[in-house]
Amino acid sequence: MTKKIAVLPGDGIGQEIVAEAVKVIERLKTAYGLDVELEQGLVGGTAYDETGSPLPQETLQLAKDSDAILLGAVGGYKWESLDIAVRPEKGLLGLRAELALFANLRPAILYPQLADASTLKPEVVSGLDIMIVRELTGGIYFGQPRGVRTLDNGEREGYNTLVYRESEISRIAKVAFDIASKRDNRVCSVDKANVLECTELWREVVTKEAQGFSHIELSHMYVDNAAMQLVREPKQFDVMVTTNMFGDILSDCAAMLTGSIGMLPSASLDINSKGMYEPIHGSAPDIAGQNVANPLATILSVAMMLRYSLNDADNATRIEAAVNKVLDNGLRTQDIYSDGMKKVSTSEMGDAVIAAL
Ligand code: IPM
Ligand code: MG
Repeated sequence: MTKKIAVLPGDGIGQEIVAEAVKVIERLKTAYGLDVELEQGLVGGTAYDETGSPLPQETLQLAKDSDAILLGAVGGYKWESLDIAVRPEKGLLGLRAELALFANLRPAILYPQLADASTLKPEVVSGLDIMIVRELTGGIYFGQPRGVRTLDNGEREGYNTLVYRESEISRIAKVAFDIASKRDNRVCSVDKANVLECTELWREVVTKEAQGFSHIELSHMYVDNAAMQLVREPKQFDVMVTTNMFGDILSDCAAMLTGSIGMLPSASLDINSKGMYEPIHGSAPDIAGQNVANPLATILSVAMMLRYSLNDADNATRIEAAVNKVLDNGLRTQDIYSDGMKKVSTSEMGDAVIAAL
C-alpha cells in the first residue's frame, strides 16, 4: 500500500535542504519502486506569515494522516519578537506534543572521511558512534505552571516546571534499552539527581526498568559531568538517555564532535514508531536562500524514516551508501569543506547523491 509522507520544509534553509531530500525520494520511487506519496504543508514562521499560526490545523491534520513526516527546520530572526505562543518553535513543539513523539533519537556518527572537520583530535573522535535518546514531550519544555508573573513588590519573576511521571521515564528508558540491544548493550542515563528531585526519580525508574534487560550495562552520570565526558572521551558512550532539556543541549555538543551539525539526522517516534524526521541543525537564517547549506542531514533523515517508520531497510542502506560515496569522491558543502576537497552547493550535493543512487 502506498505510504504517505508529510513534507514540511519550514523556514530558512529548511526550504532548500528539504527540496534535495525530496529529489532523493523521487529518485527512489522511479529507480527502486519506493511506494510513497508526498504532500507538502506549512509549519513555523512561514506558516505564521500565511495563516497566523506556526502550526495550522491543516498541517496538524496532514501530519496525523501521514505514515511519516519529513521536516526541515523552523525559526528565524524575523519572528524572534513574536509572542512565545506563536513563535515558529511552537510549531515544532506542537507537532511533537500532538503526535506524542516522545522518543527522539539523535545519532552522532563520525564519517571517517570527515575526521578532519571535527575540532577535536582525530584519535578522540575517529570511529565515534553514539546514540542520544532524548525524551521529547515532557520535562521542563512542557511542564506547568510556566510563565512570567509580577510579584507584590512589582518585580517580575519567570518560572518553568521540571516534571516527569514514572510512566514517561520508564517508556523512554525502554526505548533506550531496546536500541542499545541492537548496538553495544550499554546505556548511560544522564540526570542531575544530586540536586533535582525530579531526576532523582528519573534515576530510580530507569534503574528499575533495566531489571527487564539483564544484558544491558546501565550507568548513570550527572549532566555536567556528561558534558565534560562528551568532549574528553566521547567514545566511552554507546547509548545515552536523558530528559528533554539535557538531551537538547548534549545532542548539539555530540553533533559537533562529528565535525558538522550539517551531517546529522534525527527521528522522533511515537509508541508505534510513527515518526517525524528532521536534521538536528536549525534553520540557519544567516545562510538561507544562498544554496550553500548542507542537505546531507536531511537526506540521511529520509534514510532513518525508511528504516524506522516505513520498514524499508534496503532503500535506507542505498541512501547511506550514496552519501558515503559522495564523501569518498571529495564533495563537500562549505560547512565540511577542507583543503583539497571539491566545494559544492546545496543542489550540487543533492544531485551528486542522486547520481550515486
Ligand atoms: C532541537 C531544537 C528545538 C528544541 C527548538 C528549535 C525548539 O533546538 O530540536 O534541538 O529545543 O528542541
Ligand atoms: Mg536543539
